Amino acid sequence: MESVSQEHRSFPPSESFSANARIGSMAAYRELYEKSIAEPEAFWADAAEGLHWFRRWERVLNADAAPFYKWYEGARTNLAYNCLDRHVENGLGGKTAIHWVGEPGDVRKITYEELLGEVCRFANVLKKLGVQKGDRVALYLPMIPELVVAVLACARIGAVHSVIFAGFSSDSIRDRVLDSEARMVITADGGYRRGKVLELKKIVDAGVSTCDCLSEVLVVKRGIEGLECPMTAGRDVWYEEMVSGVEDFCPAEEMDAEDLLFLLYTSGTTGKPKGIMHTTAGYMVFAYLTAKYVFDLQPDDVYWCTADVGWITGHTYIVYGILQNGVSQVLYEGAPNHPDEGRFWEIVEAYKVSIFYTAPTAIRAFMKWGDSWLEGKDLSSLRLLGTVGEPINPEAWMWYHEKVGGGRCPIVDTWWQTETGGHLLTPMPGATSTKPGCATLPFFGIEPAVLDDAGNDVAAGILAIKKPWPGMMRGIYGDPDRYRQTYWCKWGGQYYFPGDGARCDADGYYWILGRVDDVVNVSGHRIGTAELESVFVEHADVAESAVVGVPHEIKGQGLMAFVTVIQGRAQDEKLNRELMGMIDQSIGKFARPERIIFSSDLPKTRSGKIMRRLLRDIAEGRELGNTTTLADPGIVEQIQRQFQEGA
Ligand code: WTA
Repeated sequence: MESVSQEHRSFPPSESFSANARIGSMAAYRELYEKSIAEPEAFWADAAEGLHWFRRWERVLNADAAPFYKWYEGARTNLAYNCLDRHVENGLGGKTAIHWVGEPGDVRKITYEELLGEVCRFANVLKKLGVQKGDRVALYLPMIPELVVAVLACARIGAVHSVIFAGFSSDSIRDRVLDSEARMVITADGGYRRGKVLELKKIVDAGVSTCDCLSEVLVVKRGIEGLECPMTAGRDVWYEEMVSGVEDFCPAEEMDAEDLLFLLYTSGTTGKPKGIMHTTAGYMVFAYLTAKYVFDLQPDDVYWCTADVGWITGHTYIVYGILQNGVSQVLYEGAPNHPDEGRFWEIVEAYKVSIFYTAPTAIRAFMKWGDSWLEGKDLSSLRLLGTVGEPINPEAWMWYHEKVGGGRCPIVDTWWQTETGGHLLTPMPGATSTKPGCATLPFFGIEPAVLDDAGNDVAAGILAIKKPWPGMMRGIYGDPDRYRQTYWCKWGGQYYFPGDGARCDADGYYWILGRVDDVVNVSGHRIGTAELESVFVEHADVAESAVVGVPHEIKGQGLMAFVTVIQGRAQDEKLNRELMGMIDQSIGKFARPERIIFSSDLPKTRSGKIMRRLLRDIAEGRELGNTTTLADPGIVEQIQRQFQEGA
């Protein structure tokens, strides 16, 4: 991929886009931005005005126990109410909330009023099964409307949802259920992925048999013919059976501003994935406002985000941010290349999608599949494009801009994280001149800095965020110390540390340079290298392992695993297969490394520290860096030979 430091092109929004945009000029952006920084509490109080509150806040921000910030203290509200009831009360009940497209081609249209009804009935089923406010409920569902319904049903009654992406393995489900002490898992008999049936219920069964905290598994029927779905008596119940006879309305629970809304597990540098905590009011306002301004949402927009609800992008920019703004959206179950590589563009054409939000990895895949898939498709409904999840290389940005956007659609390259709840760096589509590969400028209320390790301002270094913002995480479930240590200790508690490198250019634009820790971003999926390493060493023949991220043409980054085998044990295809199988089993297929390279040892300093830098050099075919500090310099050459032979 080409270097972003050479990039000088700049693309202002068109006059016609700016003329109708919510933020239509840089002057308008700056004015509001400056207010948001100078008077954050006034700014965030204004932002909350348009939403529904059972009780208003007494204090917008309470920083007394920083970094454990509280927002909208004293307020009472409900997310599901703001996503649904508010619109129905305002006469928008008949508007389409979701155009659902199933992978095999089944479709469903759901209005806001219908969605409210579904959510109420689902919530009543949860109550009937004994779920109470504060209980944790794990969701393991395909991209069907019931996933959105179940999320909102939890929010409606104050149960804490913990959505597990349906590509995760049984072991991952078990870890998450245990860590959150979930009392229920909601799943489906199955789902579709690239024409194949995923047997979700069986994956859940294999994971949760030892979870004592669990009382029920609630199973939604996806309606896959011939799919067997074994049910455990006393634990498993069919949603379809439970829902008959429940009331059509369920009142929305009055939630305290800081009541836990959801947990979402994500990978860090060390140990098991951590349960990121988001609470009610601050997340609500931040999701609402970022969606409104960054996507410039207008009443007749048709929005489509191709992410899965199992990731933060789906939480904030499929469910909460988008529904709070009352627009119509497409929800698609399947993959971009099934039944063929034109599928996304057919959907854009069929539903007249106006705002399209996807990941750079998908854009690079489309480029590779060739422009012919776009030919003859009417994409003229599109007016705004977005990207998320990983850095976008300028070449992919230009392709997206020209081929998908017809040169007329602004692109919002949105930088944010599971922890941040919503966008922190992003263009304002009607105001910001965009540069290919650049996340540009801060959202309202966000004050970024680029620092070195010592906390000095530098042109290129580590991204830092100065002030708290309403959508920020409130902690790591069950581990308040780890929250403080991981995110707030790098510069003495003054800044939030996201773990990304960044550069600030002469125009004050921020360029994200990728992670500065041992987290790798594979196709926009965050994977901690330590997680793979701890899986490999569980194999009886493995002594040690080190996993590094390497550039990958389509995925952005891929994983390269270096594994040392106990003396005398075979380093063969069988071991390779077994280790790959262990990754599938422990994490999920999406976390498989590109390759596993066996060797008798790893390059280490004399004090025994593995030199990952050298492993990266080998994996990227680069000239080896300084090897003089190695305990045994011969070992890198041996690994290099192994690497080249297997290539
Ligand atoms: C990376 C996804 C460059 C970054 C919303 C971050 C990005 C991690 C961008 C969070 C972007 C996300 N440009 N890098 N526009 N967006 N990232 O928690 O490294 O799955 O720290 O949240 O993805 O990943 P997460």
